[in-house]
Formats: sequence, structure tokens, C-alpha cells
Amino acid sequence: MNAELIYDNKKINLNVLTGTNNEIAIDITGLRNDTGLITYDPGYQNTGSCQSAITFIDGEKGILRYRGIPIEQLAEKSSFIEVSYLLIYGKLPNRAERAAFSERLSLNALLHEDMLHYLGNIPPTAHPMALLSNMVNSLSVYYPGFYVEDYNNETFNMMAARLISKIRTIAAFSYKKSIGEPFVYAREDLLYVQNFLNMMFSSPVKSYHLDPDIIRTLEVLLILHADHEQNCSTSTVRLVGSSKVNLYSSICAGICALWGPLHGGANQQVIEMLESVRNSKLSPKECIERSKDKKNPFRLMGFGHRVYRNYDPRAKILKEYAKKLLAKRKVVDPLLDIAMQLEELALSDDYFIERKLYPNVDFYSGFLYRLIGIPTNMFTVMFAMGRMPGWIAHWKEMHDSVPFKIGRPRQLYIGEPLADYVPVDKRK
Ligand code: CMC
Repeated sequence: MNAELIYDNKKINLNVLTGTNNEIAIDITGLRNDTGLITYDPGYQNTGSCQSAITFIDGEKGILRYRGIPIEQLAEKSSFIEVSYLLIYGKLPNRAERAAFSERLSLNALLHEDMLHYLGNIPPTAHPMALLSNMVNSLSVYYPGFYVEDYNNETFNMMAARLISKIRTIAAFSYKKSIGEPFVYAREDLLYVQNFLNMMFSSPVKSYHLDPDIIRTLEVLLILHADHEQNCSTSTVRLVGSSKVNLYSSICAGICALWGPLHGGANQQVIEMLESVRNSKLSPKECIERSKDKKNPFRLMGFGHRVYRNYDPRAKILKEYAKKLLAKRKVVDPLLDIAMQLEELALSDDYFIERKLYPNVDFYSGFLYRLIGIPTNMFTVMFAMGRMPGWIAHWKEMHDSVPFKIGRPRQLYIGEPLADYVPVDKRK
């Protein structure tokens, strides 16, 4: 199959690529060289930046699969560590592979002692995402030598394990620092999620009870965050990584991209929005009206998505989880009522119906993080912890595809055609 573009009475033939599930892409890789033309697509709404075998999304139908496996099956049956392996290495690990992967994670659980001094000197007012991006970038200071030139399976395996393991330590230690408690180190006898909870919530005077419901909830949250194909932060990791900078710095850039309120930062904003609805006595109806008002920058946080034109399958799983777990524990969270009212109003409102705006992953995740005891300003850190294997998988996939090209979009210049330098005393 191919496509034809007619420009200036000339016919240009373009290849058509077909994905596994019959998605169609017009291949314009030769367009500039053959014709001098570029395409214009702000926000890359119609641009496929790569071919990828990691994650499949059908936004119209609300489908999400990692390496072909439906997210619902992984959320029900798998563990975050298994899913991390699946994303990075392309298959579910057998027993030996899973044991070797876990061992590498355990070996990398500590932070370099000098990193602790660094962490100790970050002002306590720093947002946990600023702290996280700093600490992750500093891995290339404290663990140098793993640069792209040295890239091979062994160095990559260590880099990947280092990031997945240390982000957990950084997150837990930064929380301990924020509440003025001593750091709790990882234990060899605990699995990834259990270890994180223990590092966060136990202290020298209080041991933390590892509750199976809480462990499974966090496992599911991390699984659901683990990858989402070419979103803003993953595209950032690929773009930065395409310059052949090391993995740590590429991931640091992804963390910064994730922080924004239109992306992963939305989970913090959802809870803050619901709190402000509750506190200011703004009714859910007024909240909906405000989000529709184009003169008002307010948006219904946790709603809408670039790819989903249907209910985000992750939000569906999390909503049910939140309802069941709160009911089982007899916890009444007034914010959940507000959220469900907002959802009901939005889903029956023409504005939201016409634009196909549904709850996304961030709308309900906060209730579960609250139940676990994670403070609101750390929600996006949790998202980053979950997304880590996805970022690593994309960096690896890009470096394994030979040759890959540095990411470098074009632009349409609309500034002054030509201007002269004017000395300062002659300027208006
Ligand atoms: N509240 C009110 N109106 C909205 C919302 C919303 N949450 N989201 C989109 N719209 C409107 C938007 O104003 C536009 O209207 P119009 O066609 O009249 O100009 C239309 O829907 C299409 O929206 P868009 O901004 O062009 O869509 P986009 O694909 O560029 O943006 C988005 C996607 C997620 C940034 C956006 O929906 C949004 O800002 N949502 C709120 C923030 C949020 O929840 N982000 C988390 C995203 S999911 C997790 C993640 O990626 O990390």
C-alpha cells in the first residue's frame, strides 16, 4: 500500500506502514530530501516518532497492553518487578531470570554515602520531584563510567537495576528527610514493594505492619504506571537519549517532563482540586462549569487524554480498587464522593461528551496513595517510580535499533526576514 501527496502539481509517492494491530502510518522520512517540504504538527498530535514493540494503546476502544498482554491481566496476576522485566527485556521472566533480576535490584538498593550528604543539603522546602530529578541525575556523578560508548548487555543490566532500585531508596529517604526521621535501609528478605513500604513507614520506635491489601494496591498502581508508549516524558527520554547522553541523564529529563500538571503532576492536582472544591464550598456543578469556561484557565484535572477517546482502562481499574478498598476498611473519604459526583456530571455533559473527555489514570490514583499513607506532594514521585521500567525499556529499544537518528524536529520560521544590529544608544 502507498499514499500519494500532490503538491504544486507534482505527485509524490509515500510508503504506508502497517502496525501489528493494523494501525496505518504514512512514511514521510524521505519527504524533505525528495521535495524540500516539511510537515507541520504542533504537539506531535499526528506524528509517529518511532516503531515500538513495547506497549499498544487503542485510544478509541480503551485498550492498553504491555508486550501484547492486556493491562487487566497484569494488574490482577503479575508483580511490578515481573512487569518491569517484561517491558525492558520483552518477555515475562522465568524463575531463574526473575531471581537474577531481583538480586541485581537488591545489590543496588543502597545510595552512595556521598549521595546522602547531597540529599541532606537539599533544602527541606524542595518539591519531592525537584529532589528526585536532582538525585537521579547525580547518579552519573556517583556512578560514572556507564556511558553509551560502554553500552553492552552487562552494563545496561546494571544501569537498569540501579535506577529501578535506587529510585525507591531516593523516594523513601526523601520522605524520611522531610519528616525528620532516620533513613530506613532496604532489607534483603523483603520484595520490592514491601521494602519500599517498610523504608517509608517503619522507624526505630515503630515497626510497620505489612498489610497484604496495601502491598497489592501499591503493586497495582506501579504496574498501571509502568509504561504508556510515546507520552511526553517517554518521548523526552528518547529525545534526550538520542543525543547519546547516558541513561541516568535521559531519565532525569523524563522525570522533569513528568512533573508538569498536564502530565504526571496531575495526580497531585486532582486531590488539590477536590480539596479546594470541598474547602471553598464550590459545588461540583460550579466546578464543571468553570472547567468549560474558555476564559478561565481552570481544567478538570484528571480528565481528558491525548490518546484515549474512551475511559482510560487504568482509571477503570483504579476506581474499582479505590471503592472496594475504602469500603473494606470502612474508610470514608469525602473527596471520593466529590470525585464521583464530578465524574457523573462530566460524563453526562455535552461539552465532555462531544470532546470525548473521560477520567484518566490520575483521577482515582490519589485515593489509593492517600490510603497507603503517601503524602500528596509525593504522588508524582510514585508515578515516576512506576514509570521507570517504561523509560528504561524505551531507551534500550532506541539504542538497540541500529542505526537510530538524533531527534531533531524542524520548524516554520515566522520571525523577521533579515534585520541589522542596532547599537544600544540608537535603540528605541
Ligand atoms: N477540562 C476541561 N476541558 C478539557 C480538559 C479538561 N480536563 N481536557 C481537555 N479539555 C478540552 C480542551 O479545552 C479542548 O477544548 P476545545 O476543543 O474547545 O479547545 C478539548 O477538550 C481538547 O483538549 P486538548 O487540550 O486539545 O487535548 P490535548 O490532547 O492537547 O491535551 C490533556 C490532553 C491531558 C493535556 C488535557 O486533556 C488536560 O489538560 N487534562 C487535564 C490534565 C490531566 O489530567 N493530565 C493527565 C493526563 S493522563 C496521565 C499522564 O499523561 O500523565
